Amino acid sequence: MERTNTMKLPSSIKPDNMKNLVTHFPQLLSTLQIESSILNTAREFHKEGLNGICFLGMGGSSIAGNYARALLSKELKIPISVTRDYLLPTYVDDKWVVIAISYSGNTEETLSSLSMANEIGSRIILMTSGGKMAQESKHPIIHLPDGLQPRAALPLIFSAVLPIVESLAGLKITNFQYLEEVLIKKSNTWNEWLFPPKEIAESFIEKTPLFIGSRHLAPVAYRAKCQINENSKALAFHSELPESNHNEIESFVKTNGCSVLPVFLRSGLEPTKINRRFDVTYDMYLEMGLSPINLLASGDTRLEEMLALTHFLDMISVELAELFSIDPVSVERIKELKHRLSR
Ligand code: F6R
Repeated sequence: MERTNTMKLPSSIKPDNMKNLVTHFPQLLSTLQIESSILNTAREFHKEGLNGICFLGMGGSSIAGNYARALLSKELKIPISVTRDYLLPTYVDDKWVVIAISYSGNTEETLSSLSMANEIGSRIILMTSGGKMAQESKHPIIHLPDGLQPRAALPLIFSAVLPIVESLAGLKITNFQYLEEVLIKKSNTWNEWLFPPKEIAESFIEKTPLFIGSRHLAPVAYRAKCQINENSKALAFHSELPESNHNEIESFVKTNGCSVLPVFLRSGLEPTKINRRFDVTYDMYLEMGLSPINLLASGDTRLEEMLALTHFLDMISVELAELFSIDPVSVERIKELKHRLSR
């Protein structure tokens, strides 16, 4: 329908250098200017009424949907679902708005669920840097600058996803400009922290991290797991409180917990019940012979906490790749698998 953003990346950004990209995470948050026509379309959809928002996407392209859902959970009156599959959920109908995101524009699961959304006549917004998705002419497209790994584009993608969801929900739009400064200030102090990124990365050499988050930090735990997988080429897990208190807590008896390092992602905004759960779980894990660590997200708001902690954890994944002498950018196995499936 309309071509929106052909913005180039700032020249200081080096797409083939993941440390450079993670360092520029704050700048990438305010790089993309969404054209007002896209936001107007989202506002129109809000006025017409919608029963829900369904994100379609895989891997690094889909996580922004989880961030938006967790962040806005207290304000939203409609559900957000994030679908990572070939199929569109059957509850999604033409009263829903579908946001399909594929950085490459060629991911087959996303294209398949998108074609189902087209068939049922959902209102659709697309976000991509190219590929088949960019050739779609029926729907508004947010054009992402190309050349990045999708996971490194999270700040760009999220800076567009959040205002769109806010517009769809009739909420006030977040200003990302100030966040750049907030995140840069925080990252300038990392080396004075009790555990700087490199030190934490060192502890992941011997032990597999298990990132545990709650509420708005639950998707941050998932992102951290994915970043360790893709950037550091290492195993990592994630879970969520309170749920993991009802199952995972039993898992460390047989193994004596020896190879797992629980990393509790703590919020300064935790409600009392969650705060107590984290504290008690931490104590019990210590007693079970584990050596858990607490990482406190710093920020005045949930959004600041989510982004600042993501930035910090992303850097840990790059430091770990360096310690393993691995290139954090290349994802040879993902590429190979996509290639074999396309034959
Ligand atoms: C690679 C990455 C992957 C991709 C996923 C889907 O950096 O993050 O998780 O995001 O394979 O591909 P796209 O994002 O192109 O639809």
